[in-house]
Amino acid sequence: MALSDYINNKPTIETDRLIIRPMVSTDVPSLKKWMPDRTIYTYWGKAPGKAEKDPELMFEKADKPTKSFHLGIAEKINDMVIGDIWVYLIENDRMAQIAVRLSSDFHGRGYGTESLSAMTAFCFEHTELQRLWTQVDVRNNASCRMLEKCGYTMEGLIRQGKMINTWCDYYIYGILASDIQ
Ligand SMILES: CC(C)(COP(=O)(O)OP(=O)(O)OC[C@H]1O[C@@H](n2cnc3c(N)ncnc32)[C@H](O)[C@@H]1OP(=O)(O)O)[C@@H](O)C(=O)NCCC(=O)NCCS
Repeated sequence: MALSDYINNKPTIETDRLIIRPMVSTDVPSLKKWMPDRTIYTYWGKAPGKAEKDPELMFEKADKPTKSFHLGIAEKINDMVIGDIWVYLIENDRMAQIAVRLSSDFHGRGYGTESLSAMTAFCFEHTELQRLWTQVDVRNNASCRMLEKCGYTMEGLIRQGKMINTWCDYYIYGILASDIQ
């Protein structure tokens, strides 16, 4: 498979406790419960935007065909979306950024690690991607620990750099397909 195979047909990835899947308009009530919560944006690089404050807006227009992934993270037990994960800013089908966030009600249960490691494995097993990377505010201990548990390497520290809309000290974390094969 290749990234181009998923342009119009995004994947569903199952883990022990989670289903990582495309989001649909019937997920809006679940999304409304956590997406506007400012606490999850503390180290996110920006405050909640319009669609995050009002998740209905996410479904107003049909998705543009893209190689990027933006998938919901749902608990298998009830299929409620409690977080989301992106693989985006894809360069030459070889390198992409990855990001994950979860409702604060579900932090500390291992779901971040479970979803990030499943998405990482999916990218390396089912697409041509060879490198995934992310920027992490140095104060975001949960994210650093999660990335390290998933096999990501802290590759560098950027001092007072621009991370989305904020200026902060941030780490670059990255993983190569060859790191886990
Ligand atoms: C980052 C995030 C996805 C982690 O999800 P999570 O499900 O809570 O993480 P996990 O339960 O898998 O925990 C991963 C590790 O981090 C540790 N951890 C969790 N919160 C922590 C904290 N506040 N400080 C230090 N370590 C922490 C856990 O103990 C675990 O390590 P361990 O197994 O050695 O004990 C979640 O905190 C989140 O959504 N944050 C807001 C959005 C965000 O900042 N995303 C990352 C942007 S790069």
